[in-house]
Amino acid sequence: MSRPQLVLGIETSCDETAASVVEDGRIVRSNVIASQAELHAPYGGVFPEVASRQHVRDIVPVLRQALDEASVRLDQLSGIAVTRGPGLSGALLVGLNAAKGLALGSGLPLVGVNHLGGHLASQWLHHDGVLLSPDVVASLGGLHAIPSPPTPHLALVVSGGHTDLALVHERGRVTRLGGTMDDAAGEAFDKAARMMGLGYPGGPAIQAAAADGDDRRFKLPVGRTPLPLDFSFSGLKTAVRRTVERLGGDPDAGRGSAKAVEPAEAVGSELPVADLAASFQRAVVIALIGRIGIAATQYPQIRAVCVSGGVSANHALRTALTTWGAEHELPILLPPLVLCTDNAAMIAAAGAHGLATGSDDGVELDIAVGLAIDVT
Ligand code: KG4
Ligand code: ZN
Repeated sequence: MSRPQLVLGIETSCDETAASVVEDGRIVRSNVIASQAELHAPYGGVFPEVASRQHVRDIVPVLRQALDEASVRLDQLSGIAVTRGPGLSGALLVGLNAAKGLALGSGLPLVGVNHLGGHLASQWLHHDGVLLSPDVVASLGGLHAIPSPPTPHLALVVSGGHTDLALVHERGRVTRLGGTMDDAAGEAFDKAARMMGLGYPGGPAIQAAAADGDDRRFKLPVGRTPLPLDFSFSGLKTAVRRTVERLGGDPDAGRGSAKAVEPAEAVGSELPVADLAASFQRAVVIALIGRIGIAATQYPQIRAVCVSGGVSANHALRTALTTWGAEHELPILLPPLVLCTDNAAMIAAAGAHGLATGSDDGVELDIAVGLAIDVT
């Protein structure tokens, strides 16, 4: 039997320092993530300089732990895959330089990976015990035997920095169909949460606040765009601001890069936060699913809809997507929660094919801060 391909993935594009070992582009052998969310919470968003410095502190222990947990030595690896963009330049450089150092010292090939391609690749990953119990895995004949997502499929990547709709012809071959004209969906969650006096990151905070809320209490706009497959969240953001102001709250109470986010009382203790959070969440879900519906009509050849990125962890979105999929007889594929938000397993998975076919970007590899989803 041939030896499995073992790829070390490294991800430092934003506020997670992550390393992972992935077998044959599909099986997660380890997945270590050091989140900086608490560090950035006082600023209500990611503070780039703080992020770079923390990556420097965390990168070596995270890499060690990923190799240890996978029980893999450096000399047993087939190659290294590292995020080259899009992302914060100072943050990306930490992962890139660590990867170059390892590649140089070990002689292993190194490939740069598009972070958005990573989110797409998260659909191919399997993780013992996360999605499927060991019994189910055994009955299927092992993780290797689990089928790949069918192609072509429609992919929606909804993260803190991006909202992109794409047609995935086959693994790694992608055409962009549309994207946000202003804020990304995750960014809208983060900003709306700040205006409601909820903490950072805003997505989980809004989801929690919305749990007891009436999602029809406030009628918030679902952004219209000149092109049917684009997105816009700025109108929704403004509507949240106006609503907070109208109810006597101060949407700027938690604003300012060096100022701590104030508790909800500072924004306005009378503010019906649960109802506003639920109404906001509903508007985002309607906007996202609306575009998926249009794309599914325009591209009837699609065999599934795959949604990934941090916002795909959202419970209301997952439920609404599943209902939509059942109604339209299209499989909806969602990564397990731990693979929705940033991780390095998806980077290893995205780099696996290039490494298997002999690619090596070597020490010339540079960061690419503004990469688009369809750039390989
Ligand atoms: O993919 P990701 O981890 O990082 C980027 O590539 O940007 O996405 C982070 C974003 C944040 O804006 C965060 O608020 C959002 O994903 N997010 C969520 C949830 N969990 C994370 N948004 C809505 N609901 C969630 N449960
Ligand atoms: Zn991401």
